[in-house]
Amino acid sequence: MCGIVGYCGPQSAVTPLIQALRRLEYRGYDSAGIALGVRGKLFVEKRAGKLANLENALDIELPVVHSGIGHTRWATHGGPTDRNAHPHVDNDGKLAVIHNGIIENYSQLRLTMQERGHTFSSDTDTESVAYLLSDLRKEHNGDLVVAMREAVKILRGSFTLVAIHADNPDVIVGVRRNSPLVVGLGEGENFLASDVAAFINHTKRAIELGQDEVVMITPTTVEITDLDGAVIAPREYEISWDASAAQKGGFAHFMLKEIFEQPKAVADTLIGRLSDNKQIVLDELSMSVQEIRALKKITVIACGTAYHAGMIAKYAIEKWSKIPVDVEIASEFRYRDPIITPETLVIAISQSGETMDTLMAVRHAKAAGARVLTICNTHSSTIPRESDAVLYTHAGPEIAVASTKALLTQMIAVYLIALHLAQVNGALTDEQIEGLYIELLALPGKIEMILETVEPLRALTRSFADKNTVLFLGRNIGYPVALEGALKLKELAYIHAEGFAGGELKHGPIALIEEGTPVIAILPVADEHALDQKMLSNIQEVKARGACVIVIAQDGVHVEGAQHIIRIPVVSALLQPVLATVPLQVFAYEMALARGNDVDQPRNLAKSVTVE
Ligand code: M6R
Repeated sequence: MCGIVGYCGPQSAVTPLIQALRRLEYRGYDSAGIALGVRGKLFVEKRAGKLANLENALDIELPVVHSGIGHTRWATHGGPTDRNAHPHVDNDGKLAVIHNGIIENYSQLRLTMQERGHTFSSDTDTESVAYLLSDLRKEHNGDLVVAMREAVKILRGSFTLVAIHADNPDVIVGVRRNSPLVVGLGEGENFLASDVAAFINHTKRAIELGQDEVVMITPTTVEITDLDGAVIAPREYEISWDASAAQKGGFAHFMLKEIFEQPKAVADTLIGRLSDNKQIVLDELSMSVQEIRALKKITVIACGTAYHAGMIAKYAIEKWSKIPVDVEIASEFRYRDPIITPETLVIAISQSGETMDTLMAVRHAKAAGARVLTICNTHSSTIPRESDAVLYTHAGPEIAVASTKALLTQMIAVYLIALHLAQVNGALTDEQIEGLYIELLALPGKIEMILETVEPLRALTRSFADKNTVLFLGRNIGYPVALEGALKLKELAYIHAEGFAGGELKHGPIALIEEGTPVIAILPVADEHALDQKMLSNIQEVKARGACVIVIAQDGVHVEGAQHIIRIPVVSALLQPVLATVPLQVFAYEMALARGNDVDQPRNLAKSVTVE
């Protein structure tokens, strides 16, 4: 989604603005622009395409001024062109605004602004806001803060807006509604940004902003007010990671770095949640023993990769704690009249904590009376703030658009919840919990072992670079792993990839198999249902029809029928997704590389989807 930055301080503004836009690139974008706070008339430059295009255009003698705003745009209204790029300026060239989100009443607003004589030069919803702010500022004696407040009362939808005016260029004004905006507090300089990555190299002090709060920054002051003008006390916090966490650290891509950070991310997410007497400690749940025992149902809501963590939650919670679980794609949840009672616990899963579909589902669940627990990786983001309880994963910043380490830590979070529930309601014995506790602690080392042996897998992957279809098969808790393998490949390699439950194969998907079609099968752990044998039969079925079969199997397990076997360490059935997912991430990464795709910023995608 769009990246936003505002700067005022002692530096020549172009430098921190471009640095910030570089750090926000990971959010996904297709054009970029800046406005520099030149007194009298702003300097504005914007270009379609990558940031390098903007930098080339800025390779001229630039005004040395100490404030400005910058934007990376992920196109919604209007294609990714120079004229649709942000900032948008008023017809005097004095006021510039940048925007993330969607202005829902923009058609009406556009008509009104045209009637008032404003000439439009873009197809965006944002341009109307530039004219609206400009008019309101004139009506309110040149006060941009008041103009912003009044504008927000008129606008519908979700938005972060940041604006600057050439008559008072040391002041930058912003607001947020259902879209992120944070303040960075520096020494003699202040920032506004969509997320802390934009300014983490300057300061670790940040202020979170609430809904409809208007913020004004100067180099030395920050003032936050509500829509009535009442002053709001700043909610300051310290950012827990440092600038190096948002750099590639010697890896070719953020995604590769994040894949290799997974042992640490998993270990960090376990810290403090396993007691010395081998119990699961989850004070963050904020639920009494009585409340847990009264639970009748759990509903998990999430999108994309986080939804796959939700599916894993269903298998783990039902098996261990015997509480029924529904898993729902967040964007479908609230349009279906879901049945929610006070005995329903809703678990939202979101890496960013800003995904609009998940946020709307959380609001719907809360309005229906459910208690909402969120699993999230991003401190102080909107979804945790609106939830009753939060279980933070400690993956550190995830920069690559394709989610990797966040997913593994989400799995850990759901296992911890499942075990905690089982511990409280007595569905598992102390010995069973202790056994799983020991297994959880061993996971980081096992992920490390997989990562030490990925080179042959990378070479094998390259041999499939010209394939246009790859199918993934899983059974039981391996099914969400198959779905995740397919999603990762689609988003990175841009090829047809689908995940199936092995048992569904004969009900249709087997028709897709052609000579040489790669099929990646996740072999389940042998159990009382002989699921492993059933998957081995599936392997024979696809092989007989020409598939090239790659099997992910635990060490020592006999596998028949596969052309290639990828080994993972031995682990119990329900924990296998933590290990089986890793080779699929490497497969998708290598496939993207082999096909010459942009690994960290795949086409058309944004890191967090802050529009519905
Ligand atoms: O930030 P969230 O976890 O809420 O994001 C959900 C999805 O948008 C995200 O997982 C997406 O599917 C990833 N690009 C997958 O790699």
